[in-house]
Formats: sequence, C-alpha cells, structure tokens
Amino acid sequence: MARWYWRCRAGMAAESWTLLLGIWHNDEFIGCQDIEAKNFASLKTVSTGSWLKKGAQGLGLGKEMRAAALSYAFDYLNAEVATFEAAIWNKESLGVSASLGYEPNGIYRDQWGTDVVQVQRVRLTSGSFTRPDWKLKVEGHEATAQFLGL
Ligand SMILES: CC(C)(COP(=O)(O)OP(=O)(O)OC[C@H]1O[C@@H](n2cnc3c(N)ncnc32)[C@H](O)[C@@H]1OP(=O)(O)O)[C@@H](O)C(=O)NCCC(=O)NCCS
Repeated sequence: MARWYWRCRAGMAAESWTLLLGIWHNDEFIGCQDIEAKNFASLKTVSTGSWLKKGAQGLGLGKEMRAAALSYAFDYLNAEVATFEAAIWNKESLGVSASLGYEPNGIYRDQWGTDVVQVQRVRLTSGSFTRPDWKLKVEGHEATAQFLGL
C-alpha cells in the first residue's frame, strides 16, 4: 500500500496523475478517496477508487465521498466522463455507483493474486450524475490546477 502511495506521488504529472484524498468525519480519519486520470487534457476522463474503514461503512459516507470527488472532477476539473470498476460481488461499491447514476459498461475477467475475478465496469457522464443536495466547498484548487496544467 505504501509503495502504491509513493508511486502515485512520485509519478504525479500533467499527463498522468492520481489525487490522493483523505476522508475525515467528526475529526477522525476514516478512509481514502482517489481521483485518477491519464491524458486528461484530451480524454477529459477520470476514474476513482475508495476505501473506508470497517466501522465507517454502510452509513452513507462512501456515497458522500464519491459524490464529492465527482463534483470536483466535473465542476472544477471540467471532466466529462467518470469511470469506475469493482469485483462483481462488491455490492456496496456498485451500489454507490448505481445510486450516483453510473451505468454498466461491460464485464471483464481479471486475476487478483490467485483469484480469478469478474470485474464490472461502470461509466458516468457529467450530465447523468445524480448530484448531491449539498454544494462542494474547495480550497487550494488553483495550485492543483496549475500543477496539472489545467
Ligand atoms: C465501497 C465503500 C466505499 C462504500 O461505502 P459505504 O459507506 O459502505 O456505502 P454507503 O453507505 O455510502 O452506500 C451508498 C449506496 O450504496 C447502496 N448500497 C450499499 N450497500 C449495498 C449493497 N450491499 N447492495 C446494494 N446496494 C448497496 C446504498 O443503498 C446506498 O445507495 P442509496 O443512497 O441509493 O440507498 C465501502 O463499503 C468500503 O470502503 N468498502 C471496502 C473497500 C472497497 O471495497 N472499496 C472499493 C474497491 S472497488
């Protein structure tokens, strides 16, 4: 995990980047939310990944943090498409996706360690995003945008 985080930080460049975001709730660190893109200036596409610690799951926070990441991608970075993928058995991840408006975008077979997994791809456009009833507040966007060449 640490190697992955350091690789993302070291590889951060305008052509290929992963924003590594932390999630705090009631002053407690509870998880991570990433936004990733390659050739963003041309493709205008991001993908996301998320993780919440066990005690914070199932409370609506996974949906809220993905909605925040998508609001940032669509409204600040001007992304047009967001993609996501999860093992077909990951009902929570795919449940969050469905409730935010993502549509199925194919299934492929992958090998994770020794396990063969069916992976469901889903896809969302800015127009079909089921927006939250709150507005995202962002600090520090200008520096990020400049660093990413946006
Ligand atoms: C995936 C994860 C981030 C989801 O967050 P969460 O807080 O548990 O999910 P939420 O409580 O926000 O659920 C949000 C939506 O998904 C739906 N959902 C949750 N669990 C579901 C299930 N088992 N089946 C169907 N829908 C489900 C909820 O009904 C809700 O939709 P709604 O608002 O329309 O009712 C979290 O469970 C997690 O960190 N899991 C472990 C790590 C992981 O699997 N990460 C993703 C790897 S691809």
